[in-house]
Amino acid sequence: MKTKPKVFLTRELPPECMRQLSESAELTYNREDRCLSKEEILLGVAGADGLLCLLTDTIDDEILAAGADLRVVSNFAVGFNNIDVEAATKRRIPVTNTPGVLTDSTADMTWALLMDAARRVTEGDRLVRTKQWGGWGPLQLLGADITGATLGLVGFGRIGQAVARRAKGFDMKVVYWSRTRLNPEEEACLGVEYRSLDQLLGESDFVSLHVALNEQTVHLIGRKELEKMKSSACLINTARGPVVDEKALVVALKSGAIASAGLDVYEREPLLEPELYDLDNAVLAPHLGSATIGTRTKMGNMAVENCLLACAGKMPPNLVNPDAYV
Ligand code: NAP
Ligand code: GLV
Repeated sequence: MKTKPKVFLTRELPPECMRQLSESAELTYNREDRCLSKEEILLGVAGADGLLCLLTDTIDDEILAAGADLRVVSNFAVGFNNIDVEAATKRRIPVTNTPGVLTDSTADMTWALLMDAARRVTEGDRLVRTKQWGGWGPLQLLGADITGATLGLVGFGRIGQAVARRAKGFDMKVVYWSRTRLNPEEEACLGVEYRSLDQLLGESDFVSLHVALNEQTVHLIGRKELEKMKSSACLINTARGPVVDEKALVVALKSGAIASAGLDVYEREPLLEPELYDLDNAVLAPHLGSATIGTRTKMGNMAVENCLLACAGKMPPNLVNPDAYV
């Protein structure tokens, strides 16, 4: 009889994925609704063929070394900045992620934050709930127009492009900056124009971040970049917290260097720069980009498939380090 691979899962996934994993693998998993400590992950990977982990787990070389039998690190996320991919490649361990299936839900969340920050919905909600609302007023909670405004997208991969497609419905001008420029046909098809980062920051009413987090994008948006933005502009971040210098963002929001922000991600999750909690011009979501039942189930199924295929010695479809097989 074929032996089942030993899989260590760092936190429970949606039921469909748990069923598949329990049937196809000798599964050990964290049954508590919390992140595991490094020590717990070190213990868990010992003897495991597959590690199925989350964006909240830092998978460094020490963990990879402790998982001497690991045949895969399967991340339940599209971003994989939590994994030392270089170290995994050196150890010939394939690393996989979950691209595509969360593109639409994350683009939708970007729009939820953009519209909330622009039209002060959460701020108004606070006013109503705290019984401070005295009735309609001509100058009350005035926000920014979305229709016809200029949207600047920083990072123009799957999610950046999905956000651009949604902007058509608001008759927006869409400009983008990214590492790789699209060809003119693709730009025309999406109705977008390329800009340098500086141009984009100076021109946009809404700046939305969609770059992957890597050495080049840490603090891509810092004090200087925030000062280049319009004082009426809004910054949206659904990418990764460290792409923005959070201390500089607080200063910009307090001083009026920019008007508002809509944030889903933070530099030191779950902690925020303390002053952010008190700023009315920041809408703060708890990393909800992919948080729909359908999307999380698709992500789980994808992560499980990546994990089981790699454990079976097959090349997984969503491999981020093909050199692991060289
Ligand atoms: P993607 O298709 O790989 O897009 C990433 C974009 O970033 C690409 O256009 C890429 O350029 C660009 N980029 C990477 N490094 C860069 C650099 N150094 N300078 C300039 N541009 C750079 O990924 P995606 O699926 O759109 O996801 C984007 C990110 O969103 C993920 O990495 C993740 O961190 C985040 N995310 C967050 C949530 C959430 O819950 N808030 C959900 C999903 C994803 P190239 O085309 O040259 O590679
Ligand atoms: C979520 O943040 C992801 O990268 O999937």
